[in-house]
Amino acid sequence: NDHQWIAPGPNDLRGPCPGLNTLANHGFLPRDGRNLNMSVILDAGFNGYHMQPDGLALAVKAATFTTDDPLTFTLDDIKLHGTIEHDASLSRNDFALGDNVHFNETIFTTLADSNPGVDYYNTTSAGQVQQKRLADAEIANPNITNTVKEFTIRSRESAFYLSVMGNPLTGVAPKKFVQIFFREERLPIAEGWRRSDTPINGSTLGPLSDAIAEQSHWTTSGGCPWIRAGPE
Ligand code: HEM
Ligand code: MG
Repeated sequence: NDHQWIAPGPNDLRGPCPGLNTLANHGFLPRDGRNLNMSVILDAGFNGYHMQPDGLALAVKAATFTTDDPLTFTLDDIKLHGTIEHDASLSRNDFALGDNVHFNETIFTTLADSNPGVDYYNTTSAGQVQQKRLADAEIANPNITNTVKEFTIRSRESAFYLSVMGNPLTGVAPKKFVQIFFREERLPIAEGWRRSDTPINGSTLGPLSDAIAEQSHWTTSGGCPWIRAGPE
């Protein structure tokens, strides 16, 4: 059908967001990763993940800063370091260390191996993963940017993967689903995943982000939060 997983071809753009890459690989977003805007993303998030506009709109507004094109952006544009893209990601390296765009299995090991002994991730494990990724990035990248802005985005992204791959009310997500989502940028339908019956919105994401943030025992590395408003 129209929403089969198809790997991106040589002219298709992808970027640092596993959530949007997956939507493009299934044709909820344009498969070429271009001509994205607010309505295109809100429709795709709803159809693919049952995500409602209030959980996505701020990220889309920020994404418009990543290009000089006032009307559209691409999945590649949003890699612009300092707009949304940040250090200490779960599955990509820091910008200063090379490749902040492509999935990196070594970086992803921290998340993959978290919550040992059970077959699910939850807000506690997600917080522990953020703490470990930050500690490792602080060592690897002496110029790391780690203010309350990046902390807030990172906690929200962890709530995203638990919600779209698991139960958005409890924040419990099967490991197998989360791993396929990151590694293959694929909806694990064949493995038993289904789109959440519960809509995912600010009211469900907020408590999960808060619990994750709490469990990450975060402290700043100094600096002033700011948002990069353009490529120049
Ligand atoms: C990163 C999920 C929507 C832009 C991430 C990450 C996750 C995620 C789990 C963290 C990746 C990592 O740390 O390695 C989702 C889901 C979405 C969604 C499930 C639902 C549709 C969006 C939207 C935008 C966006 C609407 C902007 C238009 C980004 C960017 C990153 C990112 C730029 C890279 C941040 C970084 O790790 O440095 N997303 N996202 N995402 N997302 Fe999304
Ligand atoms: Mg990053």
